[in-house]
Amino acid sequence: MLEQLKQVEEDALKALQAVHDEASLEAWRVTHLGRSSGLMEVFSKFGQLSKEEKPVVGQRANEVKQALEAAFGARSEEIQQAALKHSLEQEQLDVTLPGRRLPLGRLHPDTQIQRELYRVFGEMGFQVYRSREVESDEYNFQLLNFPVGHPARDMQDTYFIEAEGRGDNPIVMRTHTSPGQIHAMREYSARNPQDPPPVRIVLPGMCYRYEQTDARHETQFDQLEGLAVGPGITFSDLKGTLTDMARRLFGQQARTRFRASFFPFTEPSAEFDIECFLCGGKGCPVCGGGWLEIGGSGMVHPVVLENGGYDPIRYTGFAFGFGIQRIAMLKYGINDIRYFWGNDLRFLEQF
Ligand code: PHE
Repeated sequence: MLEQLKQVEEDALKALQAVHDEASLEAWRVTHLGRSSGLMEVFSKFGQLSKEEKPVVGQRANEVKQALEAAFGARSEEIQQAALKHSLEQEQLDVTLPGRRLPLGRLHPDTQIQRELYRVFGEMGFQVYRSREVESDEYNFQLLNFPVGHPARDMQDTYFIEAEGRGDNPIVMRTHTSPGQIHAMREYSARNPQDPPPVRIVLPGMCYRYEQTDARHETQFDQLEGLAVGPGITFSDLKGTLTDMARRLFGQQARTRFRASFFPFTEPSAEFDIECFLCGGKGCPVCGGGWLEIGGSGMVHPVVLENGGYDPIRYTGFAFGFGIQRIAMLKYGINDIRYFWGNDLRFLEQF
């Protein structure tokens, strides 16, 4: 039986060598110290031994049991230490590393200028009025006094959307923000048709034209339209408003110039320019002759007032419209309009 104990001890210690994790350690404990282990078998046969054998075998059996328990404890400690070391190494967190910087987004330069313009016009009492980008020929042209086939339409050669059976009133991507004038006036005048309220709005948004793209032309661009309608509004109100806008945007010394022009929906009409702030009006590569062309303007044509529900005998008004990118180009010295929608971060991150 002493032989058997020796074998039990040897086998157990040898098996323990191969134990490297908690699960197999537990399996080892069951096999070598558990109820049906070789060791317990010796204990269970204890009663069959003679008086002389009992103390010898008993002492030995207890020694083996203690030795195996001690080995088990030591192994268990080793395994726990190894696991701890492993996790410390693997899950190491170096708190001295600087954090990763989150790339911060920003507003598109076009949006920045739009918001600045809303502020400028907001200070002058204009509200922002949003109008649709997909229009009918009627709103984009006819109600603005461009009859079907009128040669002034050529300036705004554009995209038509195929829609069956619409005859002379096809669907069109708006070529300018001016159709919003009609939508706004009709909405305002409907509130009180006998005595329509005054209008003072700016209408921003994307416009579309079939263009040969180059540094100054894009097939889509943002415009800002302005419209003021009320009793007794004059051309000097228009001049004052646009000159004030130029000063608020470019500084007190900014000067504006109006040149006679033609638009079917304004009468009289004028192109308006701002004195080039880059060269101070002397003339430079950006402006040419010292003035920067900004956009069109004029007194709202009586036909347009009427189409909007405003009696042209009682009401007058002015309107203007310009390209927002054009203002951004002036303000930031951008020399190619195609950068705006090119989505190149090297461009966008500069603003
Ligand atoms: N809608 C005109 C254009 O796009 C600009 C304009 C607006 C002119 C309002 C006069 C009055 O060219």
